Amino acid sequence: MNLLSILLSLALLFLSPTHGLTSNSATPDEGSTLQVLHSPSFHRKDPLSWEARVLQTQSKDEARVQYLTSLVAGKSVVPIASTRPNYVVRAEIGTPAQTMLMALDNSNDVAWIPCAGCVGCSKALFDSSKSTTLKALGCQAAQCKQVPNPTCLGSACSFNMTYGGSTLAANLSQDTLKLAADAVPGYMFGCIQKATGSSMPPQGLLGLGRGPLSLLSQTHSLYQSTFSYCLPSFKSVHFSGSLRLGPIGQPKRIKTTQLLRNPRRSQLYYVNLIGIRVGRRVLNIPPSALAFNPTTGAGTIFDSGTVFTRLVKPAYVAVRHVFRKRVGANMTVSSLGGFDTCYSAPIPSPPTITFMFAGMNVTLPPDNFLIHSSSGTTTCLAMAASPDTPGNVNSVLNVIASMQQQNHRVLFDVPNSRLGVAREFCS
Ligand SMILES: *[C@@H]1O[C@H](CO)[C@@H](O)[C@H](O)[C@H]1NC(C)=O
Ligand SMILES: *[C@@H]1O[C@H](CO)[C@@H](O)[C@H](O)[C@H]1NC(C)=O
Ligand SMILES: *[C@@H]1O[C@H](CO)[C@@H](O)[C@H](O)[C@H]1NC(C)=O
Ligand SMILES: *[C@@H]1O[C@H](CO)[C@@H](O)[C@H](O)[C@H]1NC(C)=O
Repeated sequence: MNLLSILLSLALLFLSPTHGLTSNSATPDEGSTLQVLHSPSFHRKDPLSWEARVLQTQSKDEARVQYLTSLVAGKSVVPIASTRPNYVVRAEIGTPAQTMLMALDNSNDVAWIPCAGCVGCSKALFDSSKSTTLKALGCQAAQCKQVPNPTCLGSACSFNMTYGGSTLAANLSQDTLKLAADAVPGYMFGCIQKATGSSMPPQGLLGLGRGPLSLLSQTHSLYQSTFSYCLPSFKSVHFSGSLRLGPIGQPKRIKTTQLLRNPRRSQLYYVNLIGIRVGRRVLNIPPSALAFNPTTGAGTIFDSGTVFTRLVKPAYVAVRHVFRKRVGANMTVSSLGGFDTCYSAPIPSPPTITFMFAGMNVTLPPDNFLIHSSSGTTTCLAMAASPDTPGNVNSVLNVIASMQQQNHRVLFDVPNSRLGVAREFCS
């Protein structure tokens, strides 16, 4: 199978969920549970750009990890390529309600929505002039001090921020947000007036980080800083992925590990990764490569916006080495895009990979770390080493990404400082 047909079949994998993605879906949102869908922007492109898109997924990931790394290193963010997240939920905003498919991002706090009149936004816009409940916040408002780079535009509180390779300027606004059956009056978000770059999710971002101004911080009495999601596989044609907000209905018996807080990057969900197993073999990774360090930002986070897991170099090299050995010395290793461990013959019995967190081992089945061409003849280990940051600083951040979380319920329980993982088939 040549590279082109591999890319096309991979592209079909990514593409298939488009069918049936309409605003009326099979299972309605109910209670405090929302369906998680693939981002429409992830698919709807002409055939030629599909393959480009698949090739780009990895480089976009690289850019996102650099973005996350630059966040944790406390350096200013250099302009980076697109880092658009791939999962959205249906949200209703304003009175009467306008529906937006907002992107899930658990590594960012502030929410924003492209507003009518926006320069540089794509077509789907929230028309704030049609909402009777919209309120613009003045620059005297206390919340105006919590947004990045606040300025006064007349008397309106306005702010600028970067998101991956995009910059955006927004008015700080409040309006009623409806998520499934729940209404959040006075929800605060940036009403985008101006945007550049292509990283911005087209219909806005729902920040699920744990810092100030995130959805969790704004709905503390409603959701008590607790949520879980199950991300559907890229291959999924049924949309049974879900975002469950609040403590009700969360799994009771679930393996958990402690959530760690980095005061310098309060939005990120850090956990303590202490080791990795390939099959039954615990890899020889120096503990310093995995250790949490709030000052340098080193450690491990769960991120919904990166597609393929990135490990610091000594950890990735160890995984790759033992994985290749287990697959067999007679199998020829090739590379595809940024993946360096691919095979053009089926892998007879791939080993499992286990992330060992403090108090919780998560053993991934091959579906969570092998990406196949649709004919099944090319298979790649869908992980990579963390990219170096600009200036060739070795990245110190491990990112457990969405492909590795698919078909698992991942619970974020901030009040009890724990993150839980349980297998769940949601696609
Ligand atoms: C944002 O604020 C500016 C300055 O007050 C104003 O001109 C603009 O209309 C506002 N946009 C929205 C959507 O409220
Ligand atoms: C924010 O962006 C606007 C428009 O791009 C620009 O005029 C303004 O100076 C920026 N403000 C800050 C604080 O960067
Ligand atoms: C490699 O060797 C194993 C047994 O050691 C065998 O099952 C497998 O078919 C071989 N693969 C190839 C590509 O020759
Ligand atoms: C995780 O696996 C390791 C190695 O197999 C084992 O020693 C450890 O007890 C396990 N931890 C938990 C919490 O089950």
